[in-house]
Amino acid sequence: MYVFATNNPGKARELKEIFGSAGLELQTLHDLNLSLSPEETGNTFEENSKIKAVETAEFLRLHGYLDAIVLADDSGLAIDAMDGRPGVDSALFLGADTPHGQRNAFIINELHGKPPGERTAYFVCVITCCWPSGEVLTVRGELEGLIAQAAKGENGFGYDPIFYVPTLDKNMAELSQEEKNKISHRGQAVREMIKKLKGK
Ligand code: IMP
Repeated sequence: MYVFATNNPGKARELKEIFGSAGLELQTLHDLNLSLSPEETGNTFEENSKIKAVETAEFLRLHGYLDAIVLADDSGLAIDAMDGRPGVDSALFLGADTPHGQRNAFIINELHGKPPGERTAYFVCVITCCWPSGEVLTVRGELEGLIAQAAKGENGFGYDPIFYVPTLDKNMAELSQEEKNKISHRGQAVREMIKKLKGK
């Protein structure tokens, strides 16, 4: 049984679809009527995804799910012109309760007037898998792009409306779920992880 440790419905939707297309069923804590929000005290995506996976695996064991294989992702957007911010703090940028529309408007404003060469950014997704034995494995996916001149698109979540994908000439939020999964940082990391899971 694979359980994905997240409270973020956008992430859960993407992971379930990719797992489903590989013939694997993925459940979330929400599907099991459980809830846990491990504190992200690490300084890197790697540390935080490991904290989430390991704490959730222990939590599930306490609830009787002794054979759960737990996956967790830590992800975010790093903007070069902002010294890599929001980075690992992507979910807390400008305050944990600040709506994404406001965060996106702030970033667009921050980069106002900059030429394409100074608008480079990348999404990062690190996924950790924790087996019942306690063994852990981590993979990383990245997607490079530019901060768009303006927010566009209704799909996806988070920073997708302001992330321009040069190869497709579209902002990430203009892509369908399937198109996003094909290229995204999360899509790359999950496919790499699935390869490893199937190889076990
Ligand atoms: P965390 O991994 O739960 O710490 O939060 C990651 C945060 O990064 C999310 O809340 C979003 O703000 C942002 N993020 C991560 N992945 C994506 C993505 O695929 N699109 C847009 N924003 C993302």
